[in-house]
Parts: sequence; C-alpha cells; structure tokens
Amino acid sequence: MRRFAILLLVAAACGDRAPGDAEVAAARAKASDAAAKLMGALFTELQAALAKGPPEQAIDVCADRAPAIARAIGEETGLSVRRTSLRTRNPENAPDGWERAWLERATAGTAPAVDDAEVVREGGGYELRYVRVVRLAEMCTTCHGAPERIPAAVREAIARRYPEDRATGFAPGDLRGVVSVRVPIGN
Ligand code: HEC
Repeated sequence: MRRFAILLLVAAACGDRAPGDAEVAAARAKASDAAAKLMGALFTELQAALAKGPPEQAIDVCADRAPAIARAIGEETGLSVRRTSLRTRNPENAPDGWERAWLERATAGTAPAVDDAEVVREGGGYELRYVRVVRLAEMCTTCHGAPERIPAAVREAIARRYPEDRATGFAPGDLRGVVSVRVPIGN
C-alpha cells in the first residue's frame, strides 16, 4: 500500500514525462478527425455556393464560414483548429513559427500525401502539432488560380476585402496550405 502511494507521488512529480505512443496516436486521431471535418464541411459549402450563384458571392464562404466552422469544430473538440499557408489571402491566417518551418520544408522538398505530426514541448507539458495538407482543386482556381483566369468581379471583390492578398497563382495539385491542429497531451 505504502509502495503504491510512493509510486503515485513519483508519477505526480514527473508530470514532465514524455508522452507514450498510445497517447500520441490518440491525439493524432483526434487532430486528423477535426481537420478532415473542417475540410469536408468547407468543400461541401464552397461547392454548393459556386453552383448556386456568381463566384464572388462564394467569397463569403471562404471568408466567414471557414473561420466559423473552424471555431465550431474547435469548441466541439476542445482543440485549436485553423487554416494557414505561406501565401495567405488574409494576413490573420499567417503561420506561426512551427507552421512556417513545416510549410517551408514541405515546399522545398516533398509534402506528405495526407498529413504529418510532431510532439513539441508547450508550457510545462507537451502538445501534438498536426497538419493536414490542403492541395488546390480545380474549383479553387476561380479564386486562387492564375490572376488572369480569375473572373473580374471576383478579383475586384478580393482586392477590396483583402488588400494584402498573396494567394493567387496556384495551379491544381499545388500545396495551397494546411489545416493546422494543436492537441495538448498528458496535461
Ligand atoms: C469564392 C472564392 C474562393 C474559392 C472558390 C476558394 N477560396 Fe480559399 N479563400 C478565399 C478567401 C476569400 C479566403 C480568405 C479567408 C479568410 O479571410 O480567412 C481564402 C482563404 C483560403 C485559405 C486560408 C489561408 C489564406 O490564404 O488566408 C486556404 C488554405 C484556402 N483558401 C484554400 C482553398 C482551397 C483548397 C479551395 C478549393 C477547395 C479554395 N480555397 C477555394 C476565397 C476562395
């Protein structure tokens, strides 16, 4: 009994212990679910908006719905979920240090087909940094493709709302960015 108590004390004192494989795998599964959910929901809404009306009206989906859906998934899962890129349209989506380093590596070399993750120290504990690759699909070119191919009304609406836009000139298949998820582990 006494031995058990001592073990418990030791475990409590070692909050610093590196997370085990099972914990990391569980965190990664949670992150992957949250990212896939955001991408799926956005894709569906964008497709519907583009089918329904002129593409400049679909800008609201990317502008307002993307952060709203990300927030809702964040609240539901208790995780931080966001979209980021080296070439942003909205400067608020600019990458943090870890995301930038990952995106630069992926751009210079080869990005993984689906996702990637790394356990990092955060505050007094650990955190899983997870990214899910976002590649440009054909339908994204209306707003992110070669500038001369973007309809004039879309170009104007984007220029008005996003004077610092750097998110054009992508071709289908290009690495457009990532959905980035942070999962606290073992805290
Ligand atoms: C109707 C125009 C439109 C279409 C179509 C569109 N986007 Fe966007 N995209 C935007 C706008 C506007 C933003 C800025 C959103 C914001 O303010 O957070 C954006 C932002 C993004 C971002 C976040 C990083 C940044 O640049 O700020 C990613 C990633 C992204 N889009 C990927 C895609 C992908 C992938 C597709 C196709 C599946 C797509 N977009 C289709 C208009 C569009």
